Amino acid sequence: MDSPFGLLTELTYRCPLACAYCSNPLNLGDYSDELTTDEWRRVLAEARDLGILQCHLSGGEPLLRRDLVELVAEAHGLGLYTNLVTSAFGLSRPRAEQLRAAGLDHVQVSIQADEADASDRIAGTPSFRRKITAMGVVKDLGWPLTVNVVLHRRNIDRVAELLELAEEAGADRVELANTQYYGWAWRNRDALLPSRAQLDAAEVVVRAARERLRDRMDVLYVLPDYYSRYPKPCMGGWASRQLTVTPNGDVLPCPAAQSLPLPRANVREATLARIWAEAPVMTAFRGTDWMPQPCRGCDRRELDFGGCRCQAFQLTGDAARTDPVCHLSPDHHLVARAVEAANAGSPARDLPLIPRPHRGSPTGVPGAA
Ligand code: SF4
Ligand code: FES
Repeated sequence: MDSPFGLLTELTYRCPLACAYCSNPLNLGDYSDELTTDEWRRVLAEARDLGILQCHLSGGEPLLRRDLVELVAEAHGLGLYTNLVTSAFGLSRPRAEQLRAAGLDHVQVSIQADEADASDRIAGTPSFRRKITAMGVVKDLGWPLTVNVVLHRRNIDRVAELLELAEEAGADRVELANTQYYGWAWRNRDALLPSRAQLDAAEVVVRAARERLRDRMDVLYVLPDYYSRYPKPCMGGWASRQLTVTPNGDVLPCPAAQSLPLPRANVREATLARIWAEAPVMTAFRGTDWMPQPCRGCDRRELDFGGCRCQAFQLTGDAARTDPVCHLSPDHHLVARAVEAANAGSPARDLPLIPRPHRGSPTGVPGAA
């Protein structure tokens, strides 16, 4: 068993946006008993003792936590590299200055599209202009900026314009990540899954941009694994190097694992070190012993670890099956069928998106609006 090096702290699932591709859990009521500031402080200290080096402060929208500056200061004081993963919707200059003074190392801002109307429609909230302003503040204060775009059928044809926007914002890195179908995104999968023609066109643009921008901006492009022959090595292997702590203190190997029928482990009941080493939610799929065929006999098993457990569960109802994305999986037809549907008919076959209901507003949060 290795030590984890990355900690994703999901500080709250409250969020002023309502993206149709949101991967946060559906049962948000189960997470409303958020950890207190002192409980998060303890989690951060335990994480450092466990060997964690990087702390990603995420959500929902982490800016909605009134104690965000304190938590950043705590993590920074412990020597952790801190990354704020935010919509930037509530990132005012004064709040940003406080975060800078607290030692925040890096900011990742998500954008939904390159134009206000499309962006606001996808986000379910008028937010585009404020994001652009906030990205300016991030650069003014000298932070490295990553722009993150979740790609899907409705925005992937605008990859060139999205890259331009990131470039104009002065981003050091842009992550173009095709949607992962967990949480609310699963409900919208068929409306979000791009066609092969869309992906091919996007890839040409990305390749050219990488070449053109290679000295200025890293361009990371994550293909939708539905179109891959082999699955991704999700999280670098189950409970191998990454930990997630949800707003109420549940500890998971990845953010989507809350959907799996595994006993919960919570920082209110045990230390992070103990959970990492012993909790069934960590040990269930660690390593390769749990693997069924065809993974068990496959020479890629140490490369992709049988793919994604959450996706296997989502598609087959059994988290211990080979990820159906793999063309060797006996369940591969489940993925092939969705891909076939995404490529049938006209390219503009746009199914309606089911909007995610709103679940929190920045109103009344000091410095967030
Ligand atoms: Fe990976 Fe399993 Fe497919 Fe082999 S059979 S490539 S180990 S998912
Ligand atoms: Fe949970 Fe892949 S998202 S294992």
